[in-house]
Amino acid sequence: MTLAIVCTHKDPSPWCEALQQLAPELDIQVWPDVSDPAAVSMVLCWKHPPGVLLNFPNLQCICSMGAGVDHMLGDPALPADVPVVRLVDPMLAQSMFEYVCATVMYYYRDLDLYQGQQQRALWLQQLPRSMGSTTIGVMGLGELGGFVAQRFAAMGFKTIGWSRSSKAMTDVSCYVGQEGLAAFLAQTQILVCLLPLTDETRGILNADVFNALPRGACIINVARGEHLVEQDLLEALASEQVRGACLDVFQHEPLASTHPFWGHQNILLTPHCSSITNPSSVAPQVMENYRRLQHGETLLNRVDLQRGY
Ligand code: NAP
Ligand code: GLV
Repeated sequence: MTLAIVCTHKDPSPWCEALQQLAPELDIQVWPDVSDPAAVSMVLCWKHPPGVLLNFPNLQCICSMGAGVDHMLGDPALPADVPVVRLVDPMLAQSMFEYVCATVMYYYRDLDLYQGQQQRALWLQQLPRSMGSTTIGVMGLGELGGFVAQRFAAMGFKTIGWSRSSKAMTDVSCYVGQEGLAAFLAQTQILVCLLPLTDETRGILNADVFNALPRGACIINVARGEHLVEQDLLEALASEQVRGACLDVFQHEPLASTHPFWGHQNILLTPHCSSITNPSSVAPQVMENYRRLQHGETLLNRVDLQRGY
């Protein structure tokens, strides 16, 4: 049996090293140099070229090299009936929290305003606020959003969350579905998007949502670029309905050098780096699923293809 890595936009070398260290006997092959496609039982994928997985006739498991799976499920030629799994990893959650914390602090401590003042050599102190009077709203309360929300609540921020099904979380008020969205947005001063990209969530960060936030709210999108309607954000920033946006993900990555986001005074952007999978951290989980596959056992972190996440 062979494990193949089929990825673009990611270096497969550290993955090979981490897996080989755990399982020296494992046959790992990196697409497109796969000598015997019929021997491949499991693939690790990141933004694979659509249709390419049909080259493996005996595939039994497709594993994302990250938390998200939209990059795989968008392939119309994804082999039917092959289980899809994803990665759930404490390091991914911690790294995401660190990034979101840095960006929340950027707005909470008015660093965006001071940056603007510095450009004008303007010495002007902003009045401080308190964590308890600042509301962070987290869209998506799964492995990452749930962790992030609980950490902010523990820091003392007023923290609320929104998800598809109801949740009970200590010190985090949870809102559910379309019926809970307006009440969630009306309180949210700093909005963090940690939703998966599905047919239901595509374009969710749009003018309706921005207008439902308190005036001057900030947006942090660390989920997927397709969640955001870019023109709606530019208009909300121009009208000052939205104060600023921190964006880690984009509809087209890498972001084109001519894109208006690059030079926008009220946008802080980063190259999809808020939480990059650490191959050494996830290798045991990949190998455990490989072992389970061989023994016909239930796979870890299986994706519900109907739900899309
Ligand atoms: P997850 O565990 O699957 O959690 C998804 C959450 O979103 C769940 O709480 C789910 O609600 C909620 N949700 C899904 N559809 C919804 C809808 N229509 N309305 C309301 N809530 C909805 O996912 P995760 O592991 O936390 O990851 C979230 C996303 O983060 C990934 O899909 C990926 O796109 C992104 N990500 C980005 C980076 C980066 O570097 N920028 C890194 C890792 C991940 P229920 O709990 O009710 O099911
Ligand atoms: C990164 O974007 C991931 O989905 O892990």
